[in-house]
Amino acid sequence: MKEILPDGAREVSGRLEIGGLLAGELADRYGTPLIVVDRPTFEARANAYAAALGADHVFYAAKAFCCVALCEALAELGLGIDVCTGGELETAMAAGFPPERILFHGNNKSFEELRRAQEVGVGRIVVDSLDELDRIEEVGVTSKLLLRVTPGVEAHTHEFVQTGQEDSKFGFGLGDDVALQALGHALALEGSKVVGIHAHIGSQIFEMSAFDLAVKRLAAFLARARDELGFTATELNLGGGLGIAHNEDEMTPDPIGSWDLIRAAVEREFKDNGLEVPELFAEPGRSIVGSSAVTLYRVGTIKRIPGVRTYVSVDGGMSDNIRPALYGARYEAFLADRMDAPKGPRVTLSGKHCESGDVLIHDVHLPDDIAVGDLLCVPATGAYTYSMASNYNRVPRPAVVMVSGGTANEIVARETDADLFHLDRHLDGSAIT
Ligand SMILES: Cc1ncc(COP(=O)(O)O)c(C=O)c1O
Repeated sequence: MKEILPDGAREVSGRLEIGGLLAGELADRYGTPLIVVDRPTFEARANAYAAALGADHVFYAAKAFCCVALCEALAELGLGIDVCTGGELETAMAAGFPPERILFHGNNKSFEELRRAQEVGVGRIVVDSLDELDRIEEVGVTSKLLLRVTPGVEAHTHEFVQTGQEDSKFGFGLGDDVALQALGHALALEGSKVVGIHAHIGSQIFEMSAFDLAVKRLAAFLARARDELGFTATELNLGGGLGIAHNEDEMTPDPIGSWDLIRAAVEREFKDNGLEVPELFAEPGRSIVGSSAVTLYRVGTIKRIPGVRTYVSVDGGMSDNIRPALYGARYEAFLADRMDAPKGPRVTLSGKHCESGDVLIHDVHLPDDIAVGDLLCVPATGAYTYSMASNYNRVPRPAVVMVSGGTANEIVARETDADLFHLDRHLDGSAIT
């Protein structure tokens, strides 16, 4: 269990402590469900990327988890940030994030989003479509531009597939001449500063071989771009995607070792094509924030169906972590105040939503004497949980606290019931008072 918990977690007389604070005390103070982010872990993961690539070559992918305090922490560490909507951009701006260290992604950036990016002075924009190039021209964007290409390699978990015709809503395919034409178009824009290309090949990647193939194809593309357009890329952004362990069967790859391998592939392929080796950039999300956080839940109902299964229901569920229901993500769980209790048979850990698919963990070994009121900890919930949270069933979203050295700060307050309907209006259109 230790490997999937934040670095600042330890067991003290059978009880979970994170950042020098007992999980039980945090739950009592802030309520449950509660997301607890261990700041030193977050910083250590971010610093590992900074060591691998240089801090200003790492754009934390805000989609993994975005709030003002996290942006502030990243700004202090000297990292960049990758935003993909106006909302993420405004969050970074509210944190005082240096705009030149912001990179703007998104397959459907609106005119207003691009205009705002230009207004605040966003450093880089990753161009995703020809329609966007038109809007970039109309706005008069002066940021550095990268072209997002899809190299026909898709990696998820331990496997990757070569997708011949790049069936993706993102970017420009390399299979035909679309990417080359788009690059030509981008280079022809007045005052355009095209510095390179971008490719993101997937998520939860554990095998570096997928990057090898992607890099090979990107280098071949850039050799054509040199020959046919006279273009030299000075920047190569290879996106995010490094996996983390969510359960004890998985291992978390080390960013430094992984990026050494990627860098070696880039140097080899670019030299083989007679190309200058560009600067390398990355956009990690999950591998920075994922294992930095845990979610604490309170057990509310236990339904034992003899000979069938036991359902243990907690006070959150698919509204604070949609990943198990959305794509079958597998997590672990344990009792935070009785870590040493012997594990019993498998049970289903379910949420409180009116939906049979509202399951957090299908088969998890929890102590046989688990009881109503017990505190459960689900580790490795920092990424794509709160950022994908919803108010399904009008359930308020949880609070988020950041812990470090015996101190806890609430970095996102718990939503209240009143928050849930403050945008509602009466039938006559008047505000709810
Ligand atoms: C373009 C891009 N960059 C970066 C990321 C972050 O990926 P991860 O959180 O797996 O590192 C994503 C995730 O979907 C992405 O689409």
